[in-house]
Amino acid sequence: MPHISFPARFVWGAATSAYQIEGACNEDGKGPSIWDTFCRMPGKIDNSATGEITCDHYHHWQEDIAWMKALNLQAYRFSIAWPRILPQGRGDINPSGLDFYDRLVDGLLEAGIQPYATLYHWDLPQALQDAGGWTERCTAEAFTGYTDAVTRCLGDRVKHWMTINEPWVSAFLGHERGVHAPGWQDTGAAVRAAHHLLLAHGWSVPLIRRNSPGAQVGIALDIVPTEPASPSFADELAARREDGLHNRWFLDPLFGRSYPTDIVDDFCRQQAWPEALIQPGDMQAIAVPVDFLGINYYTRAIVRASIPESDNLPPTNQYADPSEWMEGGWADNYPQGLYNLLTRLRDDYPIPPIYITENGASYNDAPDAQGCVNDTRRIAYIESHLQHALRAAQSGVPLAGYFVWSLFDNFEWARGYTMRFGLVWVDYTTQQRIPKASALWYRDGIAAWRAHHHPVA
Ligand code: FCB
Repeated sequence: MPHISFPARFVWGAATSAYQIEGACNEDGKGPSIWDTFCRMPGKIDNSATGEITCDHYHHWQEDIAWMKALNLQAYRFSIAWPRILPQGRGDINPSGLDFYDRLVDGLLEAGIQPYATLYHWDLPQALQDAGGWTERCTAEAFTGYTDAVTRCLGDRVKHWMTINEPWVSAFLGHERGVHAPGWQDTGAAVRAAHHLLLAHGWSVPLIRRNSPGAQVGIALDIVPTEPASPSFADELAARREDGLHNRWFLDPLFGRSYPTDIVDDFCRQQAWPEALIQPGDMQAIAVPVDFLGINYYTRAIVRASIPESDNLPPTNQYADPSEWMEGGWADNYPQGLYNLLTRLRDDYPIPPIYITENGASYNDAPDAQGCVNDTRRIAYIESHLQHALRAAQSGVPLAGYFVWSLFDNFEWARGYTMRFGLVWVDYTTQQRIPKASALWYRDGIAAWRAHHHPVA
C-alpha cells in the first residue's frame, strides 16, 4: 500500500458530481438542467439512460456519509447543482435547494469529513441554455450570482472550493463534438464557451474569498499528456497541437500567458475565432491567482498526424491505439502519464499546490455469489497511479491530496450506466450499496497512513 509514503498533511478523498449521483431531478423546486434535456434527445445516451434517479443520493445522503466515514475518507469532493439553487439560472433563490447542501455539509463535518465543493460540474440551468448558454458572456455573469448565493450560505463551513470542472469537456465535448450537453457541433461556439467558462472562474474567485474567509479556491482541469505516435516531424507537430487544444488552451491563460498563439492561429484558419471575444480586463480576470490546481487524470493521448484534406487546414489528429484500454474504451491505463503530466506542470508553470481531484477506472466487476465485488484491477490501477504520483511528489511537485473517481458507481454521462467507476457498487434497482474490494483496500491504506503519521497519543 503506497499510502503511508505520502506526507502527514496529505488529504485522502473520493469524488462525485451532482447530476451523476443525486437523482431527484424534479424535486423541491429544482429547475431543469441541460443534462435533463440532453438525456431526452434520442440516441445521445447509451440505452437512453438518464440521471433522473441514478444513486438517489438526494434521499440517501445520510447513509452515503456513513459509507464515507466507514471508508476513512478525510475529504469528499462533490458538486452543487446550479438549477437546485437558482431554477432559472439567475434571480430567485430556491431555499430548499440550498437546504440540501446545508444539511450535507453539516453531516460531513459531523462525520469528520472535509467538504470539497465544485460549483459547476456541467449541469447548466436549461433557462440559461435557452438564451445561448456558455456561448454567451451573460452566462458567466449569471455564474457569479450563483457563486455568491452558494458561498454566502456555505462559505462559513466549506473551506475548499472549485469553480469549474473540466472546462475543456464542457466547451469542446459539449459544443464542438456534440457528445455532451448541449450537443452542439460548432468549433467557434466551443471557443466562445471555453472563454466564458474561464471568465466565470476568474470572476468568481474573489467573490468566494469574500464570502468564505480563509478558503482555498481552485479549478479542476482534465490534463491529457500527449505523445507523438512516432518521432516524425508531422506527428510531433500534431502532438503539440493536441497539447495546445486540450491543455495549454486552459493552463496558459490561467497562469497569465493568454491563449497560445499557435492554437489561436489554427482557430483563425478554421474561421472559428469569434469576433470581439476578449474584452478589456478578461485575461487579467482569468489569471487571478488560485490557491490550488485540481487535476483530473484518466488517459494520455498518442497523436498521429493524418493527411490534411486541404493545404489550408492543419492536420487533424487521431489517437493511436493505446496499449491497454479500460472498459468503455476512452481511457488507457497508463500510470506513468500521471508522473509525466505532474512533472511537466512543475517545469512549465508556476504551480500552486496540486490536488488530484479525479483519478479512477471503469471496471464493471459485479457481486459474486457471496455478494463480494472483487475488483482487483481497480486496486492495481489506483496503486500504480499512487506510486507515480508519489514519485512526482518526491521530485518536487507540491501534491496536496488525491481523490478517487468515484465514491459510487454512477451515471457516466453519454455512456449512461454502462461504465462503473465506483469504490462502492450500487444496485440501481434497490439502491443497495456494496463496498468493493478496492474500497476496503483504500480504507485500509488510509488507516495505515493515519497510524503511521498521526498515531493516537
Ligand atoms: C471526468 C468527469 C467525471 C467522470 C469521469 C469518469 O471527465 O469529470 O464526471 O465522468 O470523467
